[in-house]
Amino acid sequence: MKYEQTQFGFTVTECDYSSADAEQVKKLVGDGRFVVIKNKEALTARTLVEFYRAIGNVVKQDVDSVDGCVDGYGELVKAGKGRLFSGKEDGELEWHCAGMNRAVSDDIVAMYMAIHTSSGGDTFFSDSQTAFTDLDPITQEQCRQIKGKYVTYSLKQSIENMHYKEVFHDKEMLLAFKDIDGNPSFDSQVNRKDLVTVHPITGVAGLYFPWSVIRGFTGMPVTEQKLLYHKLKAHTLQDKYIYRHHWDQYDIVLSDQHHSLHRRESYDGNRELWRAGIVLQSKASSIEEWSCMSSRTE
Ligand SMILES: [Fe+2]
Repeated sequence: MKYEQTQFGFTVTECDYSSADAEQVKKLVGDGRFVVIKNKEALTARTLVEFYRAIGNVVKQDVDSVDGCVDGYGELVKAGKGRLFSGKEDGELEWHCAGMNRAVSDDIVAMYMAIHTSSGGDTFFSDSQTAFTDLDPITQEQCRQIKGKYVTYSLKQSIENMHYKEVFHDKEMLLAFKDIDGNPSFDSQVNRKDLVTVHPITGVAGLYFPWSVIRGFTGMPVTEQKLLYHKLKAHTLQDKYIYRHHWDQYDIVLSDQHHSLHRRESYDGNRELWRAGIVLQSKASSIEEWSCMSSRTE
């Protein structure tokens, strides 16, 4: 395969979907915040799922309880208006990432444009790793010392809350959508997460800052929390940290979920995007690590 840099990501051509290409693409997701793979022809659900499996563990939904799985593959879910991740009525979906206020989440979200509409529907990706690197050393150190305070929701609040509504549309779907560990995504909400995290592929530090579910920071007066929140929001949303992807049919975009948010603009027409969540650390190894930590404290 060939690749070239596009702002803070990469565009790949001539990908043959081998495991060697999967390994290289995974490395590029670490080096950039997104990877666009251009294809001239349609890919099958099977090719996509096998390719994603060569990158990491692919989250599998129950095809009988989650709407819009593709060709019997629980790994691929159709996202868009009237489906999961529907967004507002016009299809707009505000800035978000897979993890938001949850402890368990995808490391990479993969999107495949099965049916392209030429009327809107661009996707925007941000880069809060470079944004962190560009902060002054004092603010960087301040960010390293604190955690974001997150809103968490009861089931009733979730159904009424706009963000959840725009993602899961009803209670059944909210509870049916699972993480890699097989538990409902809804159950893994937490109220504190580190503001600065290291990327699992490269070890490079960046901001984990899904600002729409953050309501302040630990260890500082409220006025300073507010100032920092607005400073970081304005800083990370500068044009230089945002890439706008105008889709072609059959494009795949692999999007980093640690140091990047994404949003979709409104669209018209029949647009069909197949979404998959990829987790890099295996379920077995995370259980192993948990056991280690637990025995250390005994
Ligand atoms: Fe998304």
